[in-house]
Amino acid sequence: MSIVVTGASGHLGRLVVAELLARGTAAGEIAAVVRDAGKAADLAAQGVELRIADYDQPPTLKDAFRAGDRVLLISGSEVGRRIPQHNAVVEAAAGAGVALLAYTGALGGPDADFVLADEHKATEQLVLASGLSYVFLRHGWYTEVYTQNLPTVLEHGAVVAAAGDGRIASAARADYAAAAAVVLAGEGHEGRAYELSGDTAWSLAEYAALVGELTGREIAYRNVSAEDYRAVLLGAGLPAAFADVLVDVDRAIGLGLLAGTSGNLARLIGRPTTPLRETVAAALKG
Ligand SMILES: NC(=O)c1ccc[n+]([C@@H]2O[C@H](COP(=O)([O-])OP(=O)(O)OC[C@H]3O[C@@H](n4cnc5c(N)ncnc54)[C@H](OP(=O)(O)O)[C@@H]3O)[C@@H](O)[C@H]2O)c1
Repeated sequence: MSIVVTGASGHLGRLVVAELLARGTAAGEIAAVVRDAGKAADLAAQGVELRIADYDQPPTLKDAFRAGDRVLLISGSEVGRRIPQHNAVVEAAAGAGVALLAYTGALGGPDADFVLADEHKATEQLVLASGLSYVFLRHGWYTEVYTQNLPTVLEHGAVVAAAGDGRIASAARADYAAAAAVVLAGEGHEGRAYELSGDTAWSLAEYAALVGELTGREIAYRNVSAEDYRAVLLGAGLPAAFADVLVDVDRAIGLGLLAGTSGNLARLIGRPTTPLRETVAAALKG
């Protein structure tokens, strides 16, 4: 049996593999499912087995899993395409007889009231219907969702959003990766649904002030209407459908739907989640 990480060439997947290794899983017991072996050559060099498969091509998934494997399905990155993609993975995992399927869903699970969660809710239903032994890792926001836009913030001297005073209990990707490693390598998590978020919730005004403090610059929080925010996103080149999803995310943040600080993530990983300040400072250093 192996611990199998899909999306292993991505940001989160790489961190999960690194956490598994750091926590004592041997490289030879880890398999990385990737669609491009070249992107995972460094993992192969460490002794991690590569299994080549594409969520969009179900036949390629046939050899991605083996009986008894513990699998982490990292949700796909193409919003709108993920239900058939995840269905293909779930079917392949069930067909192979894996021992456990962990899935990275969205905070709130079936009750999440934002459009971005719809594919995650549908995926959880697919997993439940498959009869597989499962763990749901319901992720809150990644702090890096914000820090990846720091160049734009610095260019305009402003954080632009439509989230009002809503607070965000984000955690670093590495925190969510540690949780996945704990579940994959540990025991007793079957059938659990973990609502995972950062220890501290912050507002975008506080985020702007923090970026200002760390850069020595004046950074404003410009809270705009949903309509104006949509126009900003379209102006930045986002497709209309995705802009609508992001506007809806800010509505959800404004309502406090991503502010919950349950402490579950810290308890699972046995340490506090990474503070916003630390992730922002690291991102500013490049
Ligand atoms: N909660 C949050 O704040 C938040 C933020 C961002 C993302 N997410 C979700 O978390 C997931 C992981 O995040 P991330 O930052 O690691 O994203 P990422 O860096 O874009 O990684 C996505 C991974 O999925 C793989 N992938 C995409 N489409 C695939 C396909 N058709 N077949 C096989 N593999 C495929 C990618 O492979 P390639 O390397 O070949 O492209 C990559 O390894 C995202 O996909 C998204 O669903 C959540």
